[in-house]
Amino acid sequence: MGHPVITLHNKAFRPYLSADEIAAAIDQLASRLNADYAGRRPLFVVVLTGGFMFAADLLKRFTGDCEIVFIRVASYEGTGSTGKVQEIMGLREDVQGRDIILVEDIVDTGTTLHHLLPTLQANHPASIEIAAMFYKPDSLRYPLTLNYMAMEIPNDFVVGYGLDYDGLGRNLPDVYVAE
Ligand code: IMP
Repeated sequence: MGHPVITLHNKAFRPYLSADEIAAAIDQLASRLNADYAGRRPLFVVVLTGGFMFAADLLKRFTGDCEIVFIRVASYEGTGSTGKVQEIMGLREDVQGRDIILVEDIVDTGTTLHHLLPTLQANHPASIEIAAMFYKPDSLRYPLTLNYMAMEIPNDFVVGYGLDYDGLGRNLPDVYVAE
């Protein structure tokens, strides 16, 4: 690849996935969603912040009627992704009877979703599926049904395409991995 190693907060990252490779994976995922949700008018629930770039690219490719909302999850954690997600902010829509598709940047340990799903399920949607750009199978700690993962990656720390390292790197169109 023609991209150099980059530095964020004095940490080095090397090129890992190009914007073209990411776009190809999203094309495939969008085709599956278009087929599976034809005529169903799903409610896409985009989990901020990391999911913003993936959501924009995925939803431009969704051809049916749909609605789109954005939520944040407040996690009162001690250490990183072991924290418990206790609150969903921004979900004003009535999800009862709706086909929900949660849009996430990455499924890593699955902690976020493990705590988010019961809160959503309590409001009796017709269905809930998870669409994520990246999925780290070796990192998953909870039994989640993950039918719409655009790309599986190893258990390495990546940045770019919405994902940050301590606040930096979300704007990068390519994805980089920590050296
Ligand atoms: P979880 O461990 O599945 O709950 O992932 C929680 C969140 O951690 C994700 O939504 C990301 O925002 C963040 N995260 C997980 N892995 C990475 C990574 O490799 N780079 C940047 N952020 C990550």
